[in-house]
Amino acid sequence: MTNFVTHLECANCGQKYDPAQVHNLCTACNRPLWVKYDLAALKKAFPKEKLKDRPANLWRYLEMLPIKDPIRIVSLEETVSPLLETKRLGAAFGVQSLFVKDESRLPTGSFKARGMAMAISKANEFGIKRVAVPTAGNAGGAMAAYSARAGMEAYVFMPEDTPATNKKECYLSGAKTFLVNGLITDCGRIVGEGRKPKGWFDVSTLKEPYRIEGKKTMGLELAEQLGWELPDVILYPTGGGTGLIGMWKAFAELEALGWLKSAKKPKMISCQSEGCAPIAVAFSKGERFAPKFENAATIASGIRVPAAVGDFMILDAVRQSGGVALATPEADIPKWMRLGASTEGIALCPETAVCLGALEVLLKNGTIRPTDRIVIFNTGAAHKYPEAVHEELARVDIRQPIDWEKI
Ligand SMILES: Cc1ncc(COP(=O)(O)O)c(C=O)c1O
Ligand SMILES: [Zn+2]
Repeated sequence: MTNFVTHLECANCGQKYDPAQVHNLCTACNRPLWVKYDLAALKKAFPKEKLKDRPANLWRYLEMLPIKDPIRIVSLEETVSPLLETKRLGAAFGVQSLFVKDESRLPTGSFKARGMAMAISKANEFGIKRVAVPTAGNAGGAMAAYSARAGMEAYVFMPEDTPATNKKECYLSGAKTFLVNGLITDCGRIVGEGRKPKGWFDVSTLKEPYRIEGKKTMGLELAEQLGWELPDVILYPTGGGTGLIGMWKAFAELEALGWLKSAKKPKMISCQSEGCAPIAVAFSKGERFAPKFENAATIASGIRVPAAVGDFMILDAVRQSGGVALATPEADIPKWMRLGASTEGIALCPETAVCLGALEVLLKNGTIRPTDRIVIFNTGAAHKYPEAVHEELARVDIRQPIDWEKI
């Protein structure tokens, strides 16, 4: 198969890199690298009709992905996630056209599988045998699973108060799992320190160039599911930012291939909790780089990322799209989780719950109109967070003896 990658390119200073070599960050400025394709050649070689008979998984877009050697792909069947129309949930907000793209169906129960399927497949191509990652939880679980599938040695570093399910999935997958007294940024420092002496390949968010190409497939799938017409608004929970950045890249590439019905792009809404809101704060101050958010604390562990190396890439995408970055109250998270599940039966993760808070605010201030076509990404399975509604459950006491008068 022909591979259409031309080079890697620093998102900050533009320095170019050879895709045949293994890379992490730009060696000139320590910022992330984009994977660049020969879009003109791709346009000729990959008409969208080619998709017709391909299986419903992320590899259906193979020509738009960085894989050189399909035999080295490491897969757990990354299924196309369903785009569910949610009329009852929409009615609760007074909107006409609301969809949830349910990423909880992917292997290991989160969208992180997309990025790790790509990163571990590329690592496998390069003959890498030992990988390490700092994680807020789900990325570690996904990396542990894909490394097990590839027969690689995995090292996972996570904050000690990461949800128990994430700890268990890493342990069960055979990853050497370490709990760190600190946040994901502290875990990142440890991986950075161990990289050379221990021979680990660093798979950290955006410090590894190919995870973003996996995340890009969310945007490709969404466009295909909507008949190559993008929605008006996308609400996305933001931690390190690969999901949002990857989708924005997908839309630009689809446009270059001439696959989109119109040039209109969605407003990208970067959603955070007030407990950890570096991107929302930088956006409101008009800044391109986000200072570290002090005392970060949120039950939505996947977005507990106080400093992101791709901060400027998130903020650029949000601004180019005409969207916004905002944070909503931490205390509302269980309420929104319950609203999603009780109106539609969709178990929203706490990260996605903040998107409902953002939707409420942005409808009130007119950024989103009730007639807009809106898509929310459910980035993970609620089942991975038994801690998130623990206190709520204790309060309502669902175990009380049956009182027939009250039923
Ligand atoms: C469920 C969930 N949602 C959202 C995020 C944030 O993702 P990103 O790093 O793409 O911003 C994470 C990251 O860990 C996550 O686990
Ligand atoms: Zn650079």
